[in-house]
Amino acid sequence: MAAMNRFKFHYGPQVVSGLGASGDLDPYVPEGPILFVTDANLRALGLTDRALASLRERHEVSVFDDVQEDPHEASVLAALDMAREMGATGVVGFGGGSPMDVAKAVAYLLGSGERIADIYGVGMALGRRAPLLLLIPTTAGTGSEATNISILTVGETTKKGVVSNALYADYALLDATLTTGLPRHVTAATGIDAMVHAIEAYTTRRLKNPISDALAKEALQLLSANLITACEEPDNLDARDAMLRGSYLAGVAFSNAPCAGVHALAYPLGGHFHVPHGLSNALMLPQVLAHTMSAARDLYAELAVVMQPGCALLGTQARAQAFVEYMRDLALQAGLSPRLTDVGIGADDLDLLADEAMKQERLLVNNMVEITRDDARRMYEAAL
Ligand SMILES: NC(=O)c1ccc[n+]([C@@H]2O[C@H](COP(=O)([O-])OP(=O)(O)OC[C@H]3O[C@@H](n4cnc5c(N)ncnc54)[C@H](O)[C@@H]3O)[C@@H](O)[C@H]2O)c1
Ligand SMILES: [Fe+2]
Repeated sequence: MAAMNRFKFHYGPQVVSGLGASGDLDPYVPEGPILFVTDANLRALGLTDRALASLRERHEVSVFDDVQEDPHEASVLAALDMAREMGATGVVGFGGGSPMDVAKAVAYLLGSGERIADIYGVGMALGRRAPLLLLIPTTAGTGSEATNISILTVGETTKKGVVSNALYADYALLDATLTTGLPRHVTAATGIDAMVHAIEAYTTRRLKNPISDALAKEALQLLSANLITACEEPDNLDARDAMLRGSYLAGVAFSNAPCAGVHALAYPLGGHFHVPHGLSNALMLPQVLAHTMSAARDLYAELAVVMQPGCALLGTQARAQAFVEYMRDLALQAGLSPRLTDVGIGADDLDLLADEAMKQERLLVNNMVEITRDDARRMYEAAL
């Protein structure tokens, strides 16, 4: 516990929160041309209309909307060309984690002039990004609006992270009205992703700290109390607002107390099989919780009480077990498929997945119980 006394903490971007806030961006955006990064689906849905109209009152704006899910670094380079061509001084990222992560990398490369190949990893991007980076999440969510991380697909299938304080945005703008049209499966998957961020921040082996702990608990409370309502009543703005705040808080938590084994085993499912990021987490969560139980039992027991105060009277082991079961049941109730075979993954894929998981060293080092290649393969097999 003494180690808890020594920590550093970064609160991340300034927060602007409010229903409809994305229709009034002007106060936060200084003079100068702006690159607006989003995806084609959000644009077609008309979700970007109000934000774009408010920016265009005073700024030259170019829109880059060619961001795919699990975005490839090629999208960053294409958006960067557009930003340079227009002489952009600021970048606005609007969407789920995919457009926000592209916006973060573009803002960094635009300002620093560095090459993308040189900035993957932790603490490699040490230059200065473009003068404005404003992020507007439309899922709840990755928490990317709060973090110093950009996750990109490199080559055919490998997901790599750029982790650096230069990637913190100036503003995270939280407008829950943007999230009422989220399809149920996206609400469910992204909501579980946010919960896993809070769980992994609270149980991380390195850099666990009391501020992340407090934020992770608050996030889990908000997310667990509102996920099913948000799935079943998509227009319920109270639930949507709570989910957006919860995913943001989880983002601040794991930006300082990093994610671990669940994300390490989830990424190969996204990189190779295009399983949505949140669903990938939901699929691997029960296995990794069981694997990590021996070291994390007390912490799981603490989190159980956050989500189910009624279990406070149980012993540690029973509470920890209740936590694992609660998370599994919640994902099922939200409608997420429980098995890898449901998403087209079979026994032939186990070796590939285990090999890929071992590449996620940045995350594996944070797991409270070591995960070897054999462990990873066994966990994928158990999740089939
Ligand atoms: N940077 C970080 O800290 C961090 C953390 C976790 C995950 N990630 C990354 O984020 C990505 C996943 O992001 P995501 O889960 O938010 O999904 P996403 O951005 O890939 O979007 C998923 C789908 O939902 C649609 N969508 C988004 N918002 C919508 C809305 N309001 N209404 C209707 N449709 C909407 C999108 O158009 C897209 O089709 C992955 O690449 C993952 O690796 C990053
Ligand atoms: Fe995640």
